[in-house]
This record gives sequence, structure tokens and C-alpha cells, in this order.
Amino acid sequence: MFRLLTLFRRSPLVIPSRTISTENILKRDVVAATHLDDLPTAKRFLGLVDLELTRHPMSKLHEFFYKRSKELGEIYAFQPFFFSPKQLVISTPSLLAELSAKEGKNPDRGNSGFNIRRAMEMLGLKKGLVFSYGAEWKRLRDPLSKRLLRPKFISGYFPKLSEIAKCAVTDIIDIQGRGQMNLDPIVERLRLWTVNSANYMAFHIFSSTELTEETSEYFQAMMSIVRGFGSTKDIEWLSYFQRKKIRKLIESLQTVINYNNKQIQVSATLPKDPDREQITMLEYLQTETDFDEKEIINTFISLLGAGVDTTTTSTQWLWYNLAKNLKVQEKLCEEVHSVIGDSSVVTAEHFNKLHYMKMCLKESMRVTPTVGTFTRILPEESTIGGVCIPKDTQVFADIYGIGLNENYWRDPLEFIPERWESRKEIDPFSFIPFGAGPRMCVGRRIAEAQMQLITAHLCSSYKLHLVKEPDPKFEVLIKPEGLNLSFEKRV
Ligand code: HEM
Repeated sequence: MFRLLTLFRRSPLVIPSRTISTENILKRDVVAATHLDDLPTAKRFLGLVDLELTRHPMSKLHEFFYKRSKELGEIYAFQPFFFSPKQLVISTPSLLAELSAKEGKNPDRGNSGFNIRRAMEMLGLKKGLVFSYGAEWKRLRDPLSKRLLRPKFISGYFPKLSEIAKCAVTDIIDIQGRGQMNLDPIVERLRLWTVNSANYMAFHIFSSTELTEETSEYFQAMMSIVRGFGSTKDIEWLSYFQRKKIRKLIESLQTVINYNNKQIQVSATLPKDPDREQITMLEYLQTETDFDEKEIINTFISLLGAGVDTTTTSTQWLWYNLAKNLKVQEKLCEEVHSVIGDSSVVTAEHFNKLHYMKMCLKESMRVTPTVGTFTRILPEESTIGGVCIPKDTQVFADIYGIGLNENYWRDPLEFIPERWESRKEIDPFSFIPFGAGPRMCVGRRIAEAQMQLITAHLCSSYKLHLVKEPDPKFEVLIKPEGLNLSFEKRV
């Protein structure tokens, strides 16, 4: 009888984490290790006739990794081109913990962003935050972590960020009211919202809510830069096509540099608000760091390049998950009403009380992450999962696969924010939408705050409905292509 009852007892939504000791990992014996070359290998392109190419097109790269981990195991080799060196893919939290223990204090991301690096070099810019490594990276990163990852930093900007988010919601409803049946104009407006928020934090400029020709051009340039983040050194041999792409990237970088220079000039003419709670990012970089002018511009390019489309896309995924799960949406709406009431501004105090909102956001980023993988290069020959990895091997951490790993999450494909109530049970390496370790996303706090602000404003007045399911498409980020939502006024 007792055994029968235990069968019916609900298993927890999170499979309790196993404790992983970094020390034990480091001490593990290397002698019995197999070699990367002995691992099963996932080949994506073996010449142009490989059936893999048709079975797993580039636009489904996230699913490719996920399916391969099911077929080949939690650790396997990956060879993007038949002549390129083998890389490693890992897809469990324990292997990720091992990678993290061995990546060193100044981790290296490896050879991604080949074209954009070339374009930056040709413009006399240094590698910048995203592509630098070693001491150069640490010098750029430390002052940014110190500021951007402090909860107090973001709360100082709250009233204005809330106003910017509210304004974006009003415009989005207006766009839909004009009978727009797809999400493209709404996505553009979301991009403008993230850029406006960034411009406020960086320069205290509250930009126009109209999409001008200048901002559209700037967005196009940013998008081409983001696409440039994805290219790797493997494609160097296609030099003719790369030359054209690099030329285009130089033009895009120039547009972004001009845009930022203009913001810097405008901000110099603005009177300083005596009531402001925070200095701008620009003032901070000018007065509290040893960055020169080019490094300051380069920092803005890195922050915007890494921050705009990621936040825009993750917001769309959150809204999609809420539209698809109406009960969750109603529960969230109740929380928003009870915390914010009739206030037109979301304050830092409100924000700290939006507990269910935080759970919904985490769950959305687990089940529908925007970044599919992140990469590392280990400083020396090492072992991971008992496999010997030669120096300079690129290691992929499968963010998408780890978030859906059934050994760590019960019903991993279901959107269940309540599983975050038992947060202590969750292995920190099983939830990595912002990466892991010292190199993890420096804009995480900003992104989380922005997404919650805009969603609180939306949910307080409108109900979201799913009109059309998206087809997730990998384009450096995993995007909800074809997603169509409608917004109904709450009475
Ligand atoms: C929901 C939105 C976002 C997601 C999902 C996201 C995700 C990520 C991921 C996965 C990484 C790689 C981390 C690693 O290698 O361990 C990363 C790095 C980075 N992110 Fe974000 N990010 C988001 C928003 C932002 C924002 C708003 C900013 C800027 C304010 C930003 C700036 C950066 C930068 C500069 C890096 C490189 C950090 C370094 O190399 O030191 N991100 N992000």
C-alpha cells in the first residue's frame, strides 16, 4: 500500500542537484582519459552532399546540438568542416561545472566573430570586451562588472526606464491597432525600446519614440554586426565572399561609431540634472576607468551589440510563453495588480516584490533560451569528463540542451514557473541562459530588469493571445520566426 502511494506522489519539478566539488574535479586522474579524437563526432558539412546538411539546416543548429547529445551522448566531438579541427560539445551541468573549474580567471571565448574582428582591426579598433582575452579582457571587464552587475546600479535608473517601457507598450498597442498582422513592426519597436533604455543609462538621453531614418539605419548596422559575431575562422578560406562581408561590416561599424559619437556630443550639451540618482555610463567610463576614447566607443559597441537583439528576442519568447499559458498569465497579472496597483510607474520597490514575474522570466529563458551555446578555449591541454582535450580546442556548452535536460528538470518542455519556488534544489549549472563563470553576460541585470518592466506594463492593462506559433530559427540567436500575438485590453 505504502509503495503504491509513493508511486502516485508527484515528483518534484526540479530534480535535486548533485553537489559538485571544484577541488575534486581538478584533482581527477588524467591518466585513464580517452582522447577527443576517440569521441563520436557530429559532422555538419562533409562536403556539400552530406545528408546532414539537409537534415539539419543551419537555421536549426540549436536542435542539431540537442538531438546529437541524445544520439551521441552528453559529451561528443563536432567538426563543422571536414578540414577543421575537432571541437567539443558538452550538454550536462556536471560537465559544465568541470569546464568552469578549468577555464581560468580570465576565460577565452575562442575564435568566434572572425569577420567582425577583422573589420574592427581594419578600423584601428582593438578587440573590445566581447573578443579580448587574458589581461586585456580583465582590464575592460572589471570596471563594467563592478557597475553593471550591482543591483543598486539598475535601481537608480528605474523611474525613467519604467517610463521608456510604458511608452513602448503604448506604441506597440497602437501598431497592432493599425491592423499589423505580423510581429515585425513590433520587433522594431522593441529594439527601439532597448536602445532608448541604453541611451538613457549611457548618456541620459531620452531618445525619440519615432523610428527615424537614422535609427533604422543604425538598427540595420547593429544587426549586421550581431550576425558578424557568429562567423568563425573556419570560413577564412572563402576569402572572396568574406572580403565583401568584411567591407559591409566596416560600413556598419562606422554607422554605429558615428551614432555613438553623436550621442556623446549631445550628452555633453545637456544640463546636469541635480536630482539624478546616477551618473551616466559615459561619465563613469570617463572618470572612473583608464579607458581611452576609442575604448569607450568600443565598449558601447560591445554592450549594444550584445544587448539589443538578445533582450528584444528574449522578451518576445517571454510574451509567447505567457500567451500560450493563460493560467500563468492570469496569475502574473494578479501579482502585477497587487504590487503596482494604480501607479503609472514601476519603482525599484515594486520591482523587488514581483516574485512570480521573476519565476516566469527564468522559466521562459530555460525553456526558450535566446542564446543556444557559449564557447570557451581552455588555457592548456586538459580533461573534461575523462576525455583529453588538446590545447586550443573550442568547447561548446549547449545552453539549449542543458535547459531541457530531463535528468535535471521534470517535464522539461513544459512552461512551469512554479518549479522556481524550490530554487535551492536547482543546480546553478543547469540554468545558463546568460553563460557561466567570470565571463558570463555583463548585461544580465539590465536585461532582466528591462524585460520585467515592460512585461509588467503590458500585463497590467492587456491580455496576450497567441495567434500563430513561431518556428524557432537559429540566426546567431534563436528567434521566434513567424510569431504572431494579439493584445486585448483588460477591463
Ligand atoms: C536576455 C538578454 C541577454 C541574453 C540572453 C544574454 C546572453 C549572453 C550570453 C550567453 C553571453 C555569453 C556568456 C559566456 O560566455 O559565459 C553574453 C555575453 C555578453 N553579454 Fe549578454 N545577454 C543578454 C543581454 C545583454 C545586455 C542587455 C548587455 C549589455 C548591456 C549584454 C552584454 C554582454 C556582453 C558585453 C557580453 C560579453 C561579456 C564578456 O565577454 O566579458 N548582454 N550574454
